[in-house]
Order: sequence, then structure tokens, then C-alpha cells
Amino acid sequence: MASSVLGQALPRIDGPLKVSGSAEYTTDRIFENMVYAVPIGSTIANGRIAALDASQARAMPGVIEVFHRGNVGELYKASPKAGMIDETRPPLADDVIRYYGQYVALVVAETFEQATAAASCVKVTYAGVDAPNVALELSADDEPNEVDRRGDPAAAYEASPVKVDQTYVTPAETHNPIELHATVATYDGEQFTLYETTQSVFNHRNVMSEILGVPRENVRVIVKFLGSGFGGKLWPWPHDALAAAAARELRRPVKLVVTRKQMFETVGHRPRTQQRVRLSADRDGTLTSLRHESINDAGMLDEYDENCGEATPYLYGTPNLLVTSAQTRRNIGPPTAMRGPGAVPGLFATESAYDELALALDMDPVQLRLRNEPTRDQGLDIPFSSRHYVECLTLGSEKFGWSERSRAVGSMRKDGVILGWGVSGCSWLAARFDAEARVELLADGSARVAMGTQDIGTGTYTVLAQLVAEATGIPHERVVVELGDSRLPPGPTSGGSMVTASVIPAVLGAAREAMKSAIELATSGPQAPFAGRDAGDLRFAGGRIVARRGGKGVPFDAALRKASVSRVSGSGKGQRTFGQEHPKYSIHSYGAQFVEVAWQPEIARLRVNRVVTVIDAGRMINPRLARNQVEGSVVMGVGMALFEETRYDPRSGAPVNSNLADYVVATHADAPHIDVTFLDYPDTELNELGARGVGEIGLAGIASAIAAAVYHATGVRVRTLPIEIEKLLSA
Ligand code: MOS
Repeated sequence: MASSVLGQALPRIDGPLKVSGSAEYTTDRIFENMVYAVPIGSTIANGRIAALDASQARAMPGVIEVFHRGNVGELYKASPKAGMIDETRPPLADDVIRYYGQYVALVVAETFEQATAAASCVKVTYAGVDAPNVALELSADDEPNEVDRRGDPAAAYEASPVKVDQTYVTPAETHNPIELHATVATYDGEQFTLYETTQSVFNHRNVMSEILGVPRENVRVIVKFLGSGFGGKLWPWPHDALAAAAARELRRPVKLVVTRKQMFETVGHRPRTQQRVRLSADRDGTLTSLRHESINDAGMLDEYDENCGEATPYLYGTPNLLVTSAQTRRNIGPPTAMRGPGAVPGLFATESAYDELALALDMDPVQLRLRNEPTRDQGLDIPFSSRHYVECLTLGSEKFGWSERSRAVGSMRKDGVILGWGVSGCSWLAARFDAEARVELLADGSARVAMGTQDIGTGTYTVLAQLVAEATGIPHERVVVELGDSRLPPGPTSGGSMVTASVIPAVLGAAREAMKSAIELATSGPQAPFAGRDAGDLRFAGGRIVARRGGKGVPFDAALRKASVSRVSGSGKGQRTFGQEHPKYSIHSYGAQFVEVAWQPEIARLRVNRVVTVIDAGRMINPRLARNQVEGSVVMGVGMALFEETRYDPRSGAPVNSNLADYVVATHADAPHIDVTFLDYPDTELNELGARGVGEIGLAGIASAIAAAVYHATGVRVRTLPIEIEKLLSA
């Protein structure tokens, strides 16, 4: 592989489709005879349905049906073997209401407007209504789960001269991708075709087939473009089953688009976390113990473990450690993964605690981190595959100008404004899912790669084209990428920033097999360009079949045409490493986040000025796509640090800021200047190209770096996100 289309900052190959409006998103699907479904959400959070009167709604213009428990048809619970689903109760399964917005009925009408109008006329009466439990203070319902332990952290803590014992809180956050969740479901009496907003066509197919009670072969899931997901679209939600059930009953295509308000209620969120972190150190900054105990809230029926301690056991060295996690149930819709689940809220807590420890030690926070760099993963007691955390910190310091920092609170000023500088480390897992690919080399000189993964906006189309171009030498513009369909070879879930790492073995393997077929074709038969030659004497390079000894060779497509075949093809497979019982290496990505905030106490104005981020995520396949991911993550981190919090009304249990005016996300105007550097060290333990994938890592550590910078500017340590201005006014 000499050429190298890898590492090139190519723009997205699907960019023109997107900017011209011709990329077909799920809600763009329109079918003849299609009807519109509008789900009705409960207006209580704790009680039961006493009666449901749909008579008025049924009489309204255009209304076709009002579905409820009595007429929706059979919806089953998916077994854990089928795949992932966070809300396991099938919709309308009983009359018990466990959270505000839980679906109680579904109105279907000829138009969206008719369905919406009728939905407001269905009368639901409730009984046994109790105050919802949406309490903010979290305490574990059951014995905490011990995630990791080594040494004797309590004794080491007692014996150490310098200590930190603090509790950090991250609030419930709601995913707000621009694209709403949606389904367009069709059923022909046997086959379901589900046009979906999903980050995993195969998981969706497998789970939905069990919910609908039909063989997997009878469910096809399609998503050609996704307007982002951030984890909220990883697994099926109740509206998916409702839309499919309505299509089954009516034998008409059903479109269901979840409203922005409903997205705060019924399609998951990042749960609230409360994390106690206890650190102790010797006077020179050597970490003597670390305890990280976290609790997250979860829905009434399902387990959801935010796993805040994901990065805790390996990020720093210490002989004594305890990591636990626990849950407590709330009358809130079930939580789910949100960008960087576990590690992102977890690192806010642990990295904030390191900053507090550095202060207690009167030590530079970068130096404290360097002091505790481990030589191996002490959690798993295995070596790191490729870890360059130290370089992230030192290069980041240099690029940011960290040595200019004066340590005292409020001591740095520029143009009459107080500056605060903060730093945080970050880390994220790197692993592979199972993946299969088919590559075809066609007689017109183009190539086609097919895999049932999906592009969630991150650039998977482009990465697949680059991989085939790299393997074959066919220009990437001539590689057609087919994905987003469960009829294609099984591909990975777009989760955990793992797609790129996962697809490499499958795509390269498939391309190699296809090239081998092309070579064989070029030697077989009297008319073949290399008739009578041994295939071993030939190789495939630059889109041509050439003799190893030299010579110009022939374009592969000429060999195909000569043999009168339309294509040669190959299949490739990659196996999962995710969840491996006994990994040989600790494989993670690392990074350092440096942040400058500006604080104007006179007018209570805080902004994030600039961020320097240095990321060690293995080899970059496409630095433009990767940079775009990290920049987006940094902006999301500004939202996490300063703005985002879903608030539940203690009386009704309703998310009260369930719209984009009241749930504040970072906008372009809030975006800092962002300087992204990738170290680009290949991690070949993960795949032959050494790419670990990138996305979630960019969000990790941003909130803790901002909180540290805010402390440096104001003297106020905010341990409960978001960092609202009110919390700083005491300064
Ligand atoms: Mo990500 S939270 O795995 O979509």
C-alpha cells in the first residue's frame, strides 16, 4: 500500500448530496397511501390509566384509527440475545404510567395536521396518581457494584498528607440532534421495511423482529443518512414499535416523527450522575489512593449503568483504588448512552478532583498528571498498546502557552478582562465490533463496497471509499459506497467511536479477495491478458494488474471486459474485540484539553475564548473528518459545562425545558477558537492501519478543563454542572 489516500483531508463524498438537499433522510421518505401517526404522551409521571375515550377523536376529519392497548396488536419483549434496547417494556403493554410522556395511545390520520388535532382530543383519565420521584439528590437503591479495586485505598488515604474528598454532579442532559427521531414503516402482509433514524441497522432489525414477532428475514431496516444521533439513536425506542404495529394493522405506510418535546421524554437522555471522588497523595504529588464512587438515576423498570469509572482504573497510576457504580430509580423515561457515556461525566469528576489536588499540593496541574503517568494499565495489569498521554500534555502546554500561566486566582488579565486557564486529561476506549464487507471491482473501472453499517454524519461513506481506494489504487471518486441497509453484509453499530477501527479488517480483506479474483481472471483462458502465467507472478497495483517483474500491465477493468464478466468480488470479515474477556493490550485513546475563559465580574459575563486540544487516537484515516468530530465535541463540551440541563418538574415529572429555546445548547456564537492536533501514532494492535477512530474523545475533559479555568478566573469551584452565572456571583 504505497499510494496513500489515507491520511488525506478529503471532503465528505456525500457532501454534494447534503448541500444540494438530495440526501434522503428518513423523514424525507414519502410513499403512496402513506398515513401519519402521532403518539399521545401521558401527562402524569406516576399512576395508571383509568380510562381512555377516543370517541371524539375518531369522529374527526381524516382520522383512521386511534391505537391503544386494546387494539394495537401483539408487541413482544425483545430478549437480551436479540440485541440492545434501553426501554424493554413494549409500548402500551400495561396501564401503569412510570414517567411523564410515556405513550398511552397513537392517532393515525390521513395528514399530520389531522392526526395532531385528533391527538389533542383523546381524553385520558388517570387514577392512583402519586407525586413523581424526580429527586435530584441521589442515593443508591441497592449495594453499589464494585467495578474495580486494588490495594487498600482507605488505609492509604488515612495515611497520606494531602487529600481531596469532593462530590461532583452532572445533570440529566438530553440529546438534541437536529434531526428528530422518526420511523416510516411499511408492511406488505409479510415483510416489514422500516426506514429509521438509527445508529445500528442490524441491532434495530434483530430487536424489532422479536418485538413484532416475525423472523429476522421479514424485517428490513434502512437509514441512508442520519442527522446525528449522539447515542440517542443507538437502540430502538417505543415509537418504532408503534409505527410498525400501526402499519401492520392498517396495511398502509405509516410515518411517525417524534416531536422535539417528546424527544425530552421518550428517547433517552444522559442520566444525572453524582460522584464522590477521594484522592490522596504524597507531598511530591504521587497519588497514593483513588476512590471513585458514582450513582446515576435510571428508569423504573430497566437497569442503566452510566459506568462513570470507565477510564478511572488506567488513566493514572496508583497502588490503591476503588471504583463503584450504583443506580437509583426515578419516574423519568429510561436513560441511554449519550456521547462518551460513562467516561465523559466520569472524567468531569475525576479530572476536577485532580485539579483540586494540584491546588492542595501547590503544584502545577500538568506536572501532577505527568507525575502519575503509569507504565502499564494497572486496572487490567496489561501493557498499553500505544499510549502518548504525556505528549498530549506537553505538546498541548506548548501550543497553549501554559508556561505563561500565573497561578493565583484572578491574576491574569487581558484588555481589562480576567482570564482563567484550565487543563484536563481525557481518554476513551478503542475497540472493534464484528464487521463484514463485500467489495466488487466492476468492468467499468469502478469499485463498489457494501456493508450494513451507517453514516451518522461522521463520514463513514468517505472512510469506506478511502479504504477501498487505498487497497486497490482505484481513485476514491470511483468507489461507490453502499451502506445503511440490513440487507447488506452485517456491519458495526455506529457507537463508541468504533466504526472506523471495526471496518478496516473487513474492507481491506474484501478488497484483497476481489483483487485476487481479478488477477486469476487475467491469467485464465487463452484470451486473457496474462494467459498461461502464474497468478503468483502478478500483482494488483494502482488499479492495474501488473507483472511483479515489471511492465505496464493492464487496467483491471480491461481484463474483466476481455473475459466478458461484469465484476469480480471479494468478502472480508473483522472480529470484535469489544468486551473481550482477557485482552492482551489496554487499547485507548488519550488527549489533553487546554481552555481559556474570560470573566467579566462587572457584567457577570463568562465565555470560553479558546481551546487547545491534542488527541492521541491512532492513525488518522481522514484528518478533516476527525477534526470536524473533535471540533463538534468541543462545542458540545461548552454546552455541557455551561448550559445543558434537563429539568424535571417535581410536581408533574415533566421535563420543563423541553424545547430548544429553554434547553440551552452551545451555538456558533458560544464556540471558542479551537486548535486541534492529532498525534497520529498508528496503533497496530487494533487493526493493521493503526486507526482507533475518533469522536467521543473530543468531548471528554472539556467540562473539567472549563471548570478548572473558571476556578482560576473566579475562585469559585463549581462541582455541579452546568456552571451557571448565578453560581459565580458569590465571587
Ligand atoms: Mo455514541 S454515545 O456510542 O453514539
